[in-house]
Amino acid sequence: MTAPAARPWWRDAVVYQVYVRSFADGLPAGSDAGDGVGDLPGITARLPYLRDLGVDALWITPFYTSPQKDHGYDVADYTDVDPLFGTLADVDLLLETAHGLGLRVIVDLVPNHTSDQHAWFQAALAAAPGSPERARYIFRPGRGEDGAEPPNNWDSIFGGPAWTRVPDGAWYLHLFDTSQPDLDWRNPEVGDMFEDVLRNWLDRGVDGFRVDVAHGLYKEATLRDQKRPEQPAKLAESMVERVLNDEPMWDQPEVHEVYRRWRRVLDSYPGDRMAVAEAWTQTAESMAMFIRPDELHQAFNFGWLGTPWSARAFARVINDSIAAVAAAASAPTWVLSNHDVERHPTRYGGGPVGLARARAATLTMLALPGSAYLYQGEELGLEQVDVPPEARQDPSWFRTGQPGRDGCRVPLPWSGDAPPYGFGGPPGSQPWIPQPADWESLSVAAQLGDPDSTLAFYQHALAARRAVFAGADEATTAIADDDLLVVLRGDVAIVLNAGDEPAPLPAGEVLISSGPLPGETLPPDTAVWIR
Ligand code: GLC
Repeated sequence: MTAPAARPWWRDAVVYQVYVRSFADGLPAGSDAGDGVGDLPGITARLPYLRDLGVDALWITPFYTSPQKDHGYDVADYTDVDPLFGTLADVDLLLETAHGLGLRVIVDLVPNHTSDQHAWFQAALAAAPGSPERARYIFRPGRGEDGAEPPNNWDSIFGGPAWTRVPDGAWYLHLFDTSQPDLDWRNPEVGDMFEDVLRNWLDRGVDGFRVDVAHGLYKEATLRDQKRPEQPAKLAESMVERVLNDEPMWDQPEVHEVYRRWRRVLDSYPGDRMAVAEAWTQTAESMAMFIRPDELHQAFNFGWLGTPWSARAFARVINDSIAAVAAAASAPTWVLSNHDVERHPTRYGGGPVGLARARAATLTMLALPGSAYLYQGEELGLEQVDVPPEARQDPSWFRTGQPGRDGCRVPLPWSGDAPPYGFGGPPGSQPWIPQPADWESLSVAAQLGDPDSTLAFYQHALAARRAVFAGADEATTAIADDDLLVVLRGDVAIVLNAGDEPAPLPAGEVLISSGPLPGETLPPDTAVWIR
């Protein structure tokens, strides 16, 4: 066992994801009052809430200058703040306040693509094909007669082709929205620019970076067509049987050199600066490559996001995740919700059952070794909201007609009985995504006074995590016994009942449970820690 003091802070940290547009709208009257969009002063004002919740750090989604086509993941200036969110002075105040409260701050870095409003892309559009300005992006001639067909068959993640044609006939690559042109990382100027960006924020005092689309920076050099199976590849029961897709646009070996360079930069600063990769790799083995000792510190482990409510499936994802990072000598990370996926109470069925299951899954996650990432609003038990079509904002909605990700991005309810529920803006106004009419009982103020609330449960669970597991590296194993998931960590057993019938409560001292334990039983959809 390693002594807590010797461990870098991120290794067991609970990190709270702040989706800046939807956390709190704090800019004072006269500036943007009533714009209904969250901002940096809003976060700073609510930092004591995060301290009281019991998290160790916050990760803030992009607040840089941006036309907001993908709500900040389309960056026009990597070292400045969008006026929508405040100023550089607001960043400094946020960092100082957070550090004063003992909270670390991770910021988002978006290196795969810029906004089409970035000075580099504007210069590329103004320059001729073959110019150095265009060489920072991936411009290619089209195929077919007059080059009217895109250069290859790749699709955008947000739907439709991954290529857009400019007036002189050339096409540029965008794996996301048209407004998010992909950078060409084979051009050394790009790597140099991002090293400057990294240093800029490290100098300002951030504790780490969340690296957006970390697996995407390099594309296979020939930009060949993607081979598509006639039938879409099925996700089989285990990774081993899984049919891997042909992905010439993702996870190329060259990307690891970027992270070696960044690691050298991070290590040259005092205070355990870190980076966590958002890498949607196809196998656990390729995920582990991002966290080799000379690369990034952590990678999000998205396995649980796609795991159904099942003791067996949970046991598998827990054991596989622990095994995958052990090979890289790192620690696992755990995620049940984020700003890109359906909220976990809804995934588990919604309503009281979905919430009970979500609390049980969360309590299980918080007992696991490594670090846990929480997404704002999960501590309130918020569900995915069915945002009306006219209010939807996700670029993928505009490109595909699918509901998209707005339903997990609805601004938080802080207090009061009607929108904007203390989020900010004039009384009676709706924030940038409208809030439901029935959120009164879910607000922070309503839940703080209620010992049975989900908020009280999260506070209690985070305190218990610190008390029971702080800095410990015990071997951890998950076992599925029919519908019971049993995770053994040191002298603690975490038991989750994923079945339909109450199970006998194992002997021992109950440390915490995710719901009531009537008559010495563990009811369905409930988890408990027992010593
Ligand atoms: C990441 C972000 C997502 C964004 C995309 C493009 O997946 O999490 O929100 O749309 O990258 O930057």
